[in-house]
Amino acid sequence: MENNKKTWSGRFNEPVSELVERYTASVSFDQRLAEYDIQGSLAHAQMLSAQGIISHADWIAIEQGLNQIRDEIRNNQFIWSQALEDVHLNIEKRLTTLIGDAGKRLHTARSRNDQVATDIRLFLRASIDEIIHLIKAMQHALLDLAEQHIHTVMPGFTHLQVAQPISFGHHLMAYFEMLKRDIGRLTDCRKRVNQLPLGAAALAGTSYPINRELVAELLGFEGICENSLDAVSDRDFAIEFSACASLIMTHLSRMSEEFILWMNPSFGFIQLADRFCTGSSIMPQKKNPDVPELVRGKTGRINGHLVALLTLMKAQPLAYNKDNQEDKEPLFDTVDTLMDTLRIYADMLTGVHVNPEVMRSSALRGYATATDLADYLTKKGIPFRDAHEIVAQTVQYAEQKGSDLNEIELSELQKFSPQIESDIFAVLTLEGSMGSRKHIGGTAPEQVQAAIQKAKEWLEL
Ligand code: ARG
Repeated sequence: MENNKKTWSGRFNEPVSELVERYTASVSFDQRLAEYDIQGSLAHAQMLSAQGIISHADWIAIEQGLNQIRDEIRNNQFIWSQALEDVHLNIEKRLTTLIGDAGKRLHTARSRNDQVATDIRLFLRASIDEIIHLIKAMQHALLDLAEQHIHTVMPGFTHLQVAQPISFGHHLMAYFEMLKRDIGRLTDCRKRVNQLPLGAAALAGTSYPINRELVAELLGFEGICENSLDAVSDRDFAIEFSACASLIMTHLSRMSEEFILWMNPSFGFIQLADRFCTGSSIMPQKKNPDVPELVRGKTGRINGHLVALLTLMKAQPLAYNKDNQEDKEPLFDTVDTLMDTLRIYADMLTGVHVNPEVMRSSALRGYATATDLADYLTKKGIPFRDAHEIVAQTVQYAEQKGSDLNEIELSELQKFSPQIESDIFAVLTLEGSMGSRKHIGGTAPEQVQAAIQKAKEWLEL
C-alpha cells in the first residue's frame, strides 16, 4: 500500500482533499487508545489462530509485531499519519510494514466498528477503576478532617440562613455520603461498560467461525454484547459514565462553593492553603480561591460533555455511523478533568485551616437553637404548632433586645410560656442542641463518631 492510498480506496476515483482528510481523521486524539487497540488485537489474533482462521505462525508474527509497535508508541518513536485516519489504521499499516501478509490477516472477521467500540470500553473500564481509587483517596482526606472536627460547632444553614447548630465533622461527612453513592454508580456503570462488542464486525456479525467467549475471557470482559447491531452502535455506557462524572463534579462543585463562601472574610470559617489560591495583580490584599472556583467552572464543561454525548446519539439510525467518532474527545476530557479534580481535592482537604471560634460565634448569632426551645415546649405537652408560635414571639423579642435566646432571663422567658423552667438553659446552648440529635444520621458528636467509624470500615481502613 502506498502512503497516499487509503486502506479502503479500492473503489474510489479521486482522493479526498486535505481539508476532508483533516476533517474526517481522528488520529490526533484517538491515538490515545493505542494500548487498548493493541490489547484488543492481540486477543482477536489469538482467537483467530485458536479457531484455525489464521495459522499459528501468523498469530506469532502478529503478536511480535504488535509488541514492537507498543514499544515504539511508548517510546514516542511511532510516526502517526493523518492520512491513515485513525489509531486502528495507523497500527495496522505499521504491522503490515513490519510483518507483511500476516499483518494483513489481522483484520479478518473484524471491522473498525466493533474494534473501536472495544477500545473505548477497555479505556473506560481502566478509567473507572482509577477514578474509584481517586475518590477513595479523597474520602480518606475527608475522614481525616472530619475526625478532627467532630466537636467543632458551626451553624447549619437552610436557605443560606442560620438554621441549627451542627458539627463541622457532620457537615464534611455529608460529602462522604455523596462520594460513596458516586462509587456505587460507577461500579454499576462498569458492569455495562465491561461487555465485549468484538465479533459484531461491521454490523451483522461475521461468517468466520469465531469464538467470542474466548475473546471476552482474554480481555477480562464480564459478558458479550448480545446483538451485533447494538454492539457496534451502542454508546449508552459512555453516556452513563458521563452522567456519573457530572454528578461527581456536581458534588465537588457544591463543596467548592462552600469553601469559597467560608473563605470570604464575612464568613471567615476556613482558610485554604496558599498553594490553592492566587493573588490579584491590582488589589494587594486579595487571596482568591482559584482552585475551588475552577472546580465549579469545570463542572459546566463536564455537564456540557454529557449533553454532547446525548445529542450525538439522539437521532442515529442503526447501526454504526461516523457521528460516533465524536464520542472520544468529550470522554477523554471528562476523564482527564475529573481525575485532576479528584487529585487536587484530596490534597486541598489536607490544607484546610479551620477557625472553630469564628464558626462558633457565627452559630451563636441567628437563633440557631430556636427549634430546641420549641421542642422543649412540645415535650412539656404544648402542641408543636403552638410552641412554634411562642418561640417566634420570643425570637422577635430577643431580636429587639439584641440578645441571644440563652441570654434572656428566665423570668422574661416565662412571660412567653410559664412551662419554661431553669433546665431550658442547657437546651439552648450550642452543645446541648447538637448533642440532643443522637439518632443514626444526627449531628450529635457520638453519632458523627459512629458515622466516621462506619465510613472507615466501608473504606476498609
Ligand atoms: N475512527 C472511527 C471512530 O472513531 C473508527 C471506526 C470507523 N468505522 C468506519 N466504518 N468508518 O468511530
